[in-house]
Amino acid sequence: MKNINIIKKELNSKENFRKEHTLSVVRAAVEIAKKYEADITKVKIAGLLHDYARNFDNEKLLKIVENNNIEIDDLEKELPALLHSPVGAFLAKKDFEVKDPQIINAIRYHTIGRPNMSLIEKIIFVADVIEPNRKFPGVEQIREKTKTDIDKAVILVCDFTIKYNIERRRIIHPNTLLTRNSLLKGEY
Ligand SMILES: [Fe+2]
Ligand SMILES: [Fe+2]
Repeated sequence: MKNINIIKKELNSKENFRKEHTLSVVRAAVEIAKKYEADITKVKIAGLLHDYARNFDNEKLLKIVENNNIEIDDLEKELPALLHSPVGAFLAKKDFEVKDPQIINAIRYHTIGRPNMSLIEKIIFVADVIEPNRKFPGVEQIREKTKTDIDKAVILVCDFTIKYNIERRRIIHPNTLLTRNSLLKGEY
């Protein structure tokens, strides 16, 4: 795997790189990682690369998926907005030589989540939504919950995503529901 400073330098040379959001996610993720004693380096790399493919157009995303046989589900194929996650995970392996499965999965599932996420995955999933540039009703509640209970913060992020999609009559990816259900365990 490439050194984290090399990854940063290479990312900086990309014109399409969502710098402000990405660096805010890294900072937010490091803060959460310290609280839960997660591996800071893994969290930094996952945060830096999570939106690497975010500004690719749909055509480019689909082309990369097809040319490389990247495994995606039917909904991801239909909703190209979701494709930047599997493509980002693929390119993290290919272009940045990231091999750690926790980092790869954190990138792969940062948009839709999945049941039984590792701590690194949960941190990126939450940091992506609570970084300081994010302003939506309820974000403060998620920020507060993140300080005390990362699983409950993940549930709140799922709640937000589900409500957001319902309000806009958009499809909800089943992973988001499954993630929520897996963590609820009869509470609430
Ligand atoms: Fe993203
Ligand atoms: Fe993001």
